[in-house]
Amino acid sequence: MMNGANGKKLIARLERASLAFGEKVVLKNCSLDVVEGAITCIIGLSGAGKSTILRLIDGLLRPNEGKVYVRDVDIAEMSEEQLIAVRQRISLSFQFAALLDSLTVGENVALPLREHSALSEAEIRKQVVDALDSVGLSHVYDLLPSELSGGMLKRAGFARAIVTKPELILYDEPTTGLDPIVTHLITDTICKLREKLDGTAVVISHDLDSIFMMADYIAMLFEGAIIAYDTKENIRKSNNPIVQQFLSGSEQGPIPI
Ligand SMILES: Nc1ncnc2c1ncn2[C@@H]1O[C@H](COP(=O)(O)OP(=O)(O)OP(=O)(O)O)[C@@H](O)[C@H]1O
Ligand SMILES: [Mg+2]
Repeated sequence: MMNGANGKKLIARLERASLAFGEKVVLKNCSLDVVEGAITCIIGLSGAGKSTILRLIDGLLRPNEGKVYVRDVDIAEMSEEQLIAVRQRISLSFQFAALLDSLTVGENVALPLREHSALSEAEIRKQVVDALDSVGLSHVYDLLPSELSGGMLKRAGFARAIVTKPELILYDEPTTGLDPIVTHLITDTICKLREKLDGTAVVISHDLDSIFMMADYIAMLFEGAIIAYDTKENIRKSNNPIVQQFLSGSEQGPIPI
């Protein structure tokens, strides 16, 4: 098992990963440790490459250079077939995740189970009910997505992401566009899911209050690399001027605007 610089067990690690889309370099020698059993939040400017990091960890993108480890294996070298097995253990909750309009919420949440397992209908129903229950939505099983509010849709999306009991959940902007109360509820749901599943999560968010509520570790992505990585307490106290400027939201400082 890999250990990070702080001696903790890692579930995933980027090691000097570089990735460009055509001429545009998004990641350059980017390294990141994802500690098992912890919530790691990635912060950074819009367009910095945060979603790209999640896509690398999920094997949806491959780096041009460097390594992407999940457990002890470099997934950058894997075949598509091998990646499918890895993805069964990782769940990516997309920035713009959508449920299928024509299926009930329960059927939507059941989809990953139907794709990946040979469970009985009764067992599928039980696991779907459990997943909906963990996000506080046990009463919406038979409703259509169009009958849910935005916050409920997000939580239903989480239920779909956790129904296979993944070892690692990747959340891309789970609270963007939601009111403060639902934001709080979702943040709380992510923390509870971590405790309940004893799972590991990577969360991308622009909401600093919610980040400081749920994070164990915070990584700041800037100009293609993680320039600061530490416990949230240490990041809050960081004297790195880029981190300070980002956290304070100031226009003055080293970040070009
Ligand atoms: N498939 C792609 N083809 C070309 N360019 C891409 C592709 N995916 C991302 N990019 C570019 O890579 C950069 C990083 O994108 P990414 O979505 O990772 O940023 P982000 O940090 O998640 O931003 P945001 O906070 O706005 O979601 C952006 O400039 C984006 O336009
Ligand atoms: Mg993004």
